[in-house]
Amino acid sequence: MKINENTLLEGHRVLLVPYNEEHVPRYHEWMKSPELQQLTASEPLSLQQEYDMQKSWREDNDKCTFIILDKQRWVDPGVDEEQCMVGDVNIFLTDPSDPFLAELEVMIAEPSYRGRGIGKEVTRMMMSYGITKLGVKKFQAKIGLDNQVSISMFKKLQFQEASVCSVFKEATLELMVDDSVRTKLQEDVAYMKERDYKQTCSSRHELVQQ
Ligand SMILES: CC(C)(COP(=O)(O)OP(=O)(O)OC[C@H]1O[C@@H](n2cnc3c(N)ncnc32)[C@H](O)[C@@H]1OP(=O)(O)O)[C@@H](O)C(=O)NCCC(=O)NCCS
Repeated sequence: MKINENTLLEGHRVLLVPYNEEHVPRYHEWMKSPELQQLTASEPLSLQQEYDMQKSWREDNDKCTFIILDKQRWVDPGVDEEQCMVGDVNIFLTDPSDPFLAELEVMIAEPSYRGRGIGKEVTRMMMSYGITKLGVKKFQAKIGLDNQVSISMFKKLQFQEASVCSVFKEATLELMVDDSVRTKLQEDVAYMKERDYKQTCSSRHELVQQ
């Protein structure tokens, strides 16, 4: 999706930035992990296929992707952006007949960043972005039944189990966006700032002072 091609979302501990070509090598390294392949139900891709995927995610109108960066590392202009990558978060508009339905995916690829509240923070930020910029009215998350951490995280975010597919060993959790969800989310991510990505890149060190 082109809508976020120059968008940076600033959170407490993270920055969400558009998925660019420069992120692909690290992303490709992550996805060689059998654990991540299993947890995210992904097939391993060649490096070239990963570049093609990045391009299609940028071009296609049904997918919005951000790379999650460690904000504290990124404000040091001496550190390559690739070295600040922590994971990714995506919205898929899965049903052409229902443009308000979005599937959410989040991956904290770096194990040392898990269990520190980052998954919850980026999911809330992405939901807020999806509601305000894409008009999402219902979120879904499809999660492997043995991924209890992810199931627990989405339940903490008020998602409810809608169905279980025993063939794919997968649960679908859902959240309808009503006024109370919208209000709570706005309060929870009131600190979030939207910035111009390229402009902020050219003055990274100023981010902490703003
Ligand atoms: C699932 C994932 C996104 C959660 O993100 P995270 O940053 O590790 O989670 P957070 O620290 O924000 O915790 C969110 C909730 O998850 C649950 N959780 C986190 N770590 C947990 C653990 N070790 N055991 C059990 N539950 C855990 C808790 O419910 C927690 O809420 P709480 O802190 O209020 O108790 C992340 O662990 C991850 O990406 N794992 C690998 C890839 C993956 O599974 N992606 C999801 C595919 S559907």
